[in-house]
Amino acid sequence: MLDILQNILADPSDKGNLVWNQEKRVAHNPRLGLDYPFQNGFFHLTKQNAIQSVDAGTEARYEGLAEWYDSVMQDQNDRGDLANSAYSILRSLLGKGEGIALDIGCGTGLAADITKELGYEPIGVDLSQDQLRIAAKRLPVVLGDSAELPISDNSIQLAYSTFTTTDWENLERSAKEIFRVLSSGGRYIDIGVHPCFYGAYSEPLSQGEIIQKPGYNKSQFVEPNLLKGTVRSKVGAWHRPVSDVINTFLSAGFKLVKVVEGGQGDLPQLLALSLLKE
Ligand SMILES: C[S@@+](CC[C@H](N)C(=O)[O-])C[C@H]1O[C@@H](n2cnc3c(N)ncnc32)[C@H](O)[C@@H]1O
Repeated sequence: MLDILQNILADPSDKGNLVWNQEKRVAHNPRLGLDYPFQNGFFHLTKQNAIQSVDAGTEARYEGLAEWYDSVMQDQNDRGDLANSAYSILRSLLGKGEGIALDIGCGTGLAADITKELGYEPIGVDLSQDQLRIAAKRLPVVLGDSAELPISDNSIQLAYSTFTTTDWENLERSAKEIFRVLSSGGRYIDIGVHPCFYGAYSEPLSQGEIIQKPGYNKSQFVEPNLLKGTVRSKVGAWHRPVSDVINTFLSAGFKLVKVVEGGQGDLPQLLALSLLKE
């Protein structure tokens, strides 16, 4: 199962800032003739000093939550409904196909069954070792950062991400990295909470109405104690206006093919973008 991942892993000697921790056990990559660190069922290929860098906060945010996260995302009385709506949009935007589908910020790997069912071979990358511990049972995974993807240039035709851009510190660099690893004609599908109606500055009321609070126009990280959602009240969230999200992907070189607003209820809780590297 890991062979497929070995075939597209970046060669760290090509990317000066990708390193491995020599103390960890290694797995040999025959394609590159390199030994990669491999522990707890997954490869480790993170940025140098990631633990001390600005991304350390992001990595730490999900540590120790994996079992809880995995269960609330499947609990229909909690985040399960929203997750199901997102995965159903994912299913329709992906369509049937084959080949590798890179799940960026795969979390515990909850979308893997869908991509497998559609005919793809999912591979996950995530910054949290705790999340990957569970994900490794569902798909081949590598510890890595969306802003420094441990994947070779032009090596895949399809990538997707669900509920992650509100976690990524550096959306601009992540968008560029996704563009880099896709080959020409490759697609990227991004699905997240809708910043207008389900964002840090919108508070849903039980009757389906939403209170909008000032702050929408500015991209910024909002601390967990200021947020109410099940997950974001624990980990915080990056709020970015819709225009910032879309323009970041366009600036990275993508063409916008389709936008879907969805979820349950009258106002859209989810925003999905289907993007193409021409
Ligand atoms: C809300 S969870 C979504 C997980 C999964 N996609 C799902 O649908 O359940 C966000 C995930 O993004 C990961 N993450 C945050 N920042 C990241 C980054 N810079 N690179 C890779 N993964 C990241 C977190 O560790 C977490 O597992």
